[in-house]
Amino acid sequence: MIYNFESQRQASGLHVACVMDGNGRWATRRGLPRPAGHRAGAEAVRRVVEAAPALGVTTLTLYAFAQANWTRPAPEVSAILTLLGTTLRAETVRLKRAGVRLQVIGRRDRLPGAVRTALCRAEWETRAGTCLHLRVAVDYSSRWALREAAGRLGPGASTEATFEAALAASLHPDGSPAPPVDLLVRTGGEHRLSDFLLWEAAHAELLFLDVAWPDVTGATLAAALDDFHQRERRFGGLVTA
Ligand code: FPP
Repeated sequence: MIYNFESQRQASGLHVACVMDGNGRWATRRGLPRPAGHRAGAEAVRRVVEAAPALGVTTLTLYAFAQANWTRPAPEVSAILTLLGTTLRAETVRLKRAGVRLQVIGRRDRLPGAVRTALCRAEWETRAGTCLHLRVAVDYSSRWALREAAGRLGPGASTEATFEAALAASLHPDGSPAPPVDLLVRTGGEHRLSDFLLWEAAHAELLFLDVAWPDVTGATLAAALDDFHQRERRFGGLVTA
């Protein structure tokens, strides 16, 4: 495949969101235990984070652990959450040096204490980053986030405009807003959203890839953005000549 890097050069300020699917099957195909797939997935995260800024991505949201994932066997849940903690601990210096600001979205109260501490520390250490806003969704559910946000709404949010502004603000109670999602990529060959960024991705372009997440590289992201730039976004309007 020949990538059209010219179109990517024009991109600026994009929000890309990824459902990192296919780790388990990647491992099983190789006769490895499923956590080996998640570890390989963490390597892919590093490649994508490294590639993103040069491709015009300023916000990257990764779905690392869904609330629905609590239904998996306890050893796998533990392996994923421990991996998150150790990866963020190990990568903080590199993230900081690269100007990446890490933010975790989702529930924190059910995470193991050591993982919670690692996430908070990585957020604090990288808080000054301006090249890339890296949002990692952990114990996340979009419907949960919307319920929480709705619960924080005050009485002023009665018209459509005030409701939308208030809900958008309420979705980011820590004062760290993210722009709407431009491109939502799901790897692993499944075609569903799995309760990810349902509000924020209302007008996102969707891209479903057959590649397993651990096989994703910077070139995969480049090709995804190339596909994105070929699309005509009309936001419900008509094409202007
Ligand atoms: C989905 O694949 C993947 C997960 C539930 C875990 C993703 C976590 C990581 C990649 C860990 C590192 C993350 C960061 C941000 C450091 P699956 O297990 O559902 O795969 P399957 O569909 O093949 O079973």
